This record gives sequence, structure tokens and C-alpha cells, in this order.
Amino acid sequence: ARIVVLVSGGGSNLAALLAACEDPAYGAQVVAAGADREGTGGVALAAAAGIPTFITRVPDFDSRADWDLALTDTVAAFEPDLVISAGFLKLCGAEFVTRFSGRYLNTHNSLLPSFAGIRGPADALAYGVKIAGATLFVVDEGVDTGIVLAQVVVPVEFDDTEDTLLERIKVAERAQLVDIVGRMCREGWTVAGRRTRIGA
Ligand code: GRF
Repeated sequence: ARIVVLVSGGGSNLAALLAACEDPAYGAQVVAAGADREGTGGVALAAAAGIPTFITRVPDFDSRADWDLALTDTVAAFEPDLVISAGFLKLCGAEFVTRFSGRYLNTHNSLLPSFAGIRGPADALAYGVKIAGATLFVVDEGVDTGIVLAQVVVPVEFDDTEDTLLERIKVAERAQLVDIVGRMCREGWTVAGRRTRIGA
């Protein structure tokens, strides 16, 4: 299966996918990685691995819709089976979500529907919940509202800071992403309403 990964930051999720894809038995390959900004660690490490990269910046377009269309066309040119948003800090619009409907995934660092948005671990800590985690879901036009594919639970420790909690979540999040994406590529997946089943 062909995967395109979108990043805005360091790209540790992308790095985990790249490492998994080194094994042909994994069943997937990252065919391109792109960002919405210059200077991301994620694009740098994809380039270092010899993988095609692209940068599609909102300010380079007249409107958000034009940006969305350009990003859609850029990603589509790589003919992906799956598009994975891994720390991509832009909401894609209707054009993108429709074109990659059902195969555009996002990984989020909370147990959705709790703590959607960009401050998941900080919001979980502030609320005082005792379990946190990460969610892999199919992106729809809402903010972190799509169909859930998988979730992993991470305990919140009494003395956690935002950083220590985020790091613990990210370790589990990467493992989940690699596991589920690999199984989806090798074994397929089924969606019935909001219920999903990964693998045969
Ligand atoms: C992940 O925790 C993701 O849930 C959040 O941003 C982080 C991305 O990390 N949206 P990285 O760039 O893959 O290291």
C-alpha cells in the first residue's frame, strides 16, 4: 500500500512509519511526506531517507480553498492508498476530505471525544483525568470527530507535567499507528456505522 504522510513538526510518528516500512512484510511504503511550513523535522528526515517531499503553505495561496485544492492535487499525484496526518497542524477542507474519503487518517494525542484540538495532553492534565491516550481515526470535516479506528490507553501519573505525559502518550501513539496502519494495509478494514474492525 502507498502512504503519504503530512507533518508540521518533528515527525516522530513519520519516523516510526519509515522504520516499519523498511521491512517488506510490513505491507506499506511511505511514497511521500509533506508539510504546511518550511523547516519541519519531519520533512527533513523523509528527505534524508530519499523519500519525495513537498511543502504547501497556506500564505502562498489566495484563499484557504485554493490551498486545499493544491494540497489535494499534490497528494493525489502520489496515488496514495492512505493519507496519514501525523502532527499536521492544519485542518484540511472539503476538497481534500472528499477526495481521500475513508482513507485519510489522523492520530491525535487524547482519547477522543475527550480533549479534541491541539492541547490534548495539557487539557487532560488540567481536567485531572487518570487515564489518557491516543486515538487513530478517519478524518471527516469536523475537528477530531471522525470514525475511531483504534485507541490506546496511557496512565496519568500524579507527578506528570505536560511534557512527561505527552512523551508517554507519544510512545504509545507511535506503536499504535505502526500497528494499525500495517494491519489495515495487510488485512483491510471494515466500517459499519461508527463501528470499525481492523483485519480479517
Ligand atoms: C502527536 O502527538 C500528535 O498526536 C499531535 O502532534 C504530535 C506529533 O508528533 N497532533 P510528531 O511530529 O509525529 O513527533
